[in-house]
Amino acid sequence: MKTYRVAVLPGDGIGPEVMEEALRVLDAVECKYGFRTERTACHVGGAGIDHCGKALPAETLAACEAAEAILFGSVGGPKWDALPPDERPERGALLPLRRHFGLYANLRPGVCLPELTAASPLKENLISGGFDILCIRELTGGMYFGEPKFYGERDGEVVALDTLVYHRYEVERIAHIAFKAAMGRSGRLCSVDKANVLTSSVMWRDVFNELAPQYPEVQLSHMYVDNAAMQLARKPGQFDVLVTENTFGDILTDEMAIICGSLGMLPSASLCVREGNTFGLYEPSGGSAPDIAGQGIANPIAQILSMGMMLRYSFGETAAADAVDAAVRKAIAQGMRTRDLYTAAAGESLVSTRGMGDAVIAAL
Ligand code: IPM
Ligand code: MG
Repeated sequence: MKTYRVAVLPGDGIGPEVMEEALRVLDAVECKYGFRTERTACHVGGAGIDHCGKALPAETLAACEAAEAILFGSVGGPKWDALPPDERPERGALLPLRRHFGLYANLRPGVCLPELTAASPLKENLISGGFDILCIRELTGGMYFGEPKFYGERDGEVVALDTLVYHRYEVERIAHIAFKAAMGRSGRLCSVDKANVLTSSVMWRDVFNELAPQYPEVQLSHMYVDNAAMQLARKPGQFDVLVTENTFGDILTDEMAIICGSLGMLPSASLCVREGNTFGLYEPSGGSAPDIAGQGIANPIAQILSMGMMLRYSFGETAAADAVDAAVRKAIAQGMRTRDLYTAAAGESLVSTRGMGDAVIAAL
């Protein structure tokens, strides 16, 4: 039987409890679609600090190296907030993993299901029928990793400096991902930049325009990031595939997440090519939500859908991945609602983390 190696990193806060549901759904999917996963569980984030003294312990990194995909929960919490920024769970685990594996393509689907428009902070008349956006964020370039970085004194003045730098090859490879993603959807691709101010954005736009003729089916447009932020809040349904650089993507994807209704619904994939295969880190877009951890009320759907993205992108198990997506939609259509989604409307049933996992498994 086909067997895939997965490094399982539940992390902190609600991470472990939502991960448990995703793994139960994975058990059910494996059974139905005839493959297996070999799972290695490891500490990461605050759990890594507590057990091994580091947010990304060496043995965790080694397990990720040996795996074909990383299924990640979430990291961070008040317990570790006093640590220096570089050692905190978020920066000490996620950024090194992204850098180590070169996970340059971050796929963040922003789907607002028609049944969940009431959970969105946007007025219902702006989003009736829901919407479905795919945001592609460049994840290993730009200001996050650009050198030099500096904070100190220069000529008697205190100065802090980050560097926003892109190499042409970095823009080209994310552009190809974005064009291909658009071809698999409606064909509409909107590239977001700040080419009226930033030189790196001028190159970004040049590269997209130069590659566009290779994808005649794709209708490419450009938008400045400030306008994109506004348009997302005004009429999100106008977008299909968005693509943007690292920092803009960080900001826009949080906005996209909240207009979808609940952070608990949104998966993500951070991808690279490794030994000819698509290697990835798959994680929910929401955080560790320490305030509700351990109560069995967190929404496990983002973790379940992230597992589904792993099946799709790293393992090529398309039918199984489609089945996971369909099962989640069915559970929602049946009225299953964790607390974050519950509006007490007719037909809704308030369920626990486990209850939502059960509903998805039943729908499978
Ligand atoms: C994200 C997060 C991270 C980022 C943080 C935790 C380093 O906000 O994945 O969007 O800024 O990329
Ligand atoms: Mg972010």
